[in-house]
Amino acid sequence: TKASCVSTEYILPIDTKWELPRESLSFGDILGEGEFGRVLKAEYVRTADSRLPGVVAVKMLKEEHSDSDMTALVSEMEIMKMIGKHENVVNLLGCCTQDGPLCVVVEYASNGCLREFLNKHNPKCSPGGVSQLNERVLVQFALQVAKGMEFLVSRGCIHRDLAARNVLVSGDLTIKIADFGLARDVRDYAYYRKRSAGRLPVRWMAPESLENNYYTEHSDVWSFGVLFWEIMTFGCTPYRKLPVHFLYDYLKSGNRLSRPEIFQETIYTLMLECWKFDPEERPRFSCLVVKLQDILNETA
Ligand code: ADE
Repeated sequence: TKASCVSTEYILPIDTKWELPRESLSFGDILGEGEFGRVLKAEYVRTADSRLPGVVAVKMLKEEHSDSDMTALVSEMEIMKMIGKHENVVNLLGCCTQDGPLCVVVEYASNGCLREFLNKHNPKCSPGGVSQLNERVLVQFALQVAKGMEFLVSRGCIHRDLAARNVLVSGDLTIKIADFGLARDVRDYAYYRKRSAGRLPVRWMAPESLENNYYTEHSDVWSFGVLFWEIMTFGCTPYRKLPVHFLYDYLKSGNRLSRPEIFQETIYTLMLECWKFDPEERPRFSCLVVKLQDILNETA
């Protein structure tokens, strides 16, 4: 209807704990575009409020957004407020809700998304076949993801789309889980349809999510296993040669991603635990944190 096309003005309550002066943001490049919005890099010109870093990322809606897109961004912001801060998630810094478009201001991660970062550091792509990212650094990445997920689970949050493309890398190589506050309606077929063909989350999904749209900490642990495999392969595409419609039967028959060649057995053993068909048999994130720490201690 015409009304829903032109309703670009909303009245949002002001939350003084988070409200930032709009004039302090000076927008730069587009960092990413999602289903309903985009993320812009911005300079935060410090005024009285000097707690904020000088460079931030700002989530906004696209011009052609719908009312439900607006509701989704507001609820993402409210979820981020409730969840609180952790070193390994993209933290909310503030927002601009008054007298203009909604801006959700979050931490900026200067090394971008983990998948591209890994691809860029693939030893196969560098002259001597060496990478600054050795096994230790890669396992530390996985450990940081597990720590961020342990925190999110403790706050009652299920991610549903854990993958290297949804994890960011900060300037000091801190891993930051992104898009955890998205209120995804996974029963909404449009959520899958809107994604481009090569980025279907099917390859990261647990069998019970594929079969029954069933999402729990256990299904996030399955996805973590796939993400761990992405890390150890410098960002390869999981089951690259397998068309996605074969995936469920492939997994049900007991097949799994193959072992990333050059790394120790304990790493692959941990991945296989994440891919137990029975969700209850998979380790919890708190257990994964301990096991990854053990691997690091053994090779210290
Ligand atoms: N791309 C999407 N969100 C980002 C962020 N917060 N920092 C850097 N790149 C991003």
